Amino acid sequence: MNLDWIAPAERVKKLPAYPFARLDELKQKAREQGLDLIDLGMGNPDGATPQPIIEAAVKALQNPANHGYPPFEGTASFRRAITNWYYRRYQVVLDPDSETLPLLGSKEGLAHLALAYINPGDVVLVPSPSYPVHFRGPVIAGGNVYSLILKPENNWLIDLNSIPEAIAQQAKILYFNYPSNPTAATAPREFFEEIVAFAKKYEILLVHDLCYAELAFDGYQPTSLLEIPGAKDIGVEFHTMSKTYNMAGWRIGFVVGNRHIIQGLRTLKTNLDYGIFAALQAAAETALQLPDSYLQEVQTRYRTRRDFLIQGLMQLGWNIPKTKATMYLWVPCPAGMSSTDFALWVLQQTGVVVTPGNAFGVGGEGYVRISLIAQHDRLDEVLQRFKKAGICYQAEFAVSSSQ
Ligand SMILES: Cc1ncc(COP(=O)(O)O)c(C=O)c1O
Repeated sequence: MNLDWIAPAERVKKLPAYPFARLDELKQKAREQGLDLIDLGMGNPDGATPQPIIEAAVKALQNPANHGYPPFEGTASFRRAITNWYYRRYQVVLDPDSETLPLLGSKEGLAHLALAYINPGDVVLVPSPSYPVHFRGPVIAGGNVYSLILKPENNWLIDLNSIPEAIAQQAKILYFNYPSNPTAATAPREFFEEIVAFAKKYEILLVHDLCYAELAFDGYQPTSLLEIPGAKDIGVEFHTMSKTYNMAGWRIGFVVGNRHIIQGLRTLKTNLDYGIFAALQAAAETALQLPDSYLQEVQTRYRTRRDFLIQGLMQLGWNIPKTKATMYLWVPCPAGMSSTDFALWVLQQTGVVVTPGNAFGVGGEGYVRISLIAQHDRLDEVLQRFKKAGICYQAEFAVSSSQ
């Protein structure tokens, strides 16, 4: 049957192939066979949303005032909670009306920002590897993605000097994300200063994704773009409630920063959605007001998992530097294996799911991402299964150093 009449639009056809297809197929098969899968492939925090947030949501649910369409621009009270949190965390003053916008999760906002600002053919600078929406959003919008290949020898930082002058001149947007998914790399404050200067010089709209704002360890405090003088002239920063507060299923995040950039996104979104259920905004407000003791608990949880897994992988031949933030380990594949082959091999041999690095763009080839989203007994089980299956790292032949 000829299906041309229901062919998707070019913007959908142009999307890079879905890299998880084979992995998903094998996961499904393993589940059907009753195998005990350990899925460390997603960025989905395990465990429950903290009780005070749930209680705030239940209370807000009981209030009929929350049952109608929410305000397009988010509730005034949630926007104020965002600016209060921002000031408390970064000593940055923001106007709740014009410099904040609640989102249906940061993924939604990141993708729609591309639609709001990219014309077909516009050049968009995107690191590789990066969180897929950073490049898929611009592709959907018809942009020309110029990949900034990140390298381990540069600590997975963007090398701004490697961007050709002509490309910098044409670029409309630069997306970036530190602490990073998937590499877990962090960027020093000087890097933020350099990228702001670069964006100002070339008049590029700067989009920072601070998804892992609070998942940092050993005293490290991630930098906010807006802490950098002048950043608000050219940039915005995306935040999520999903990771710090175990609220991934609630779908709520926000963007802050340059009022003109936010206005464009708001205009687009008022034509596409009605914003977030007001009861969820009330709950998110409570989340932003949780005491620091809650944050310490979350940080300890991920830090101890990090230490446990790094130690265990070390005994299997990997030498993974201690990550300062995020919920991920970025692990080189052994003996010249591609990231897809390694992830499939690990799944077939052990029932452990890891994410092939090429899912995050060509710059992720030669690595897999392991999410720290299981309790110690399960992580121990992962290490036992690796040991039993002979899964280890062979440094001499590693592809990692040449990537
Ligand atoms: C860097 C980064 N940005 C954004 C998101 C999406 O977050 P949200 O749940 O707010 O859509 C993720 C999720 O994994 C992420 O890793």
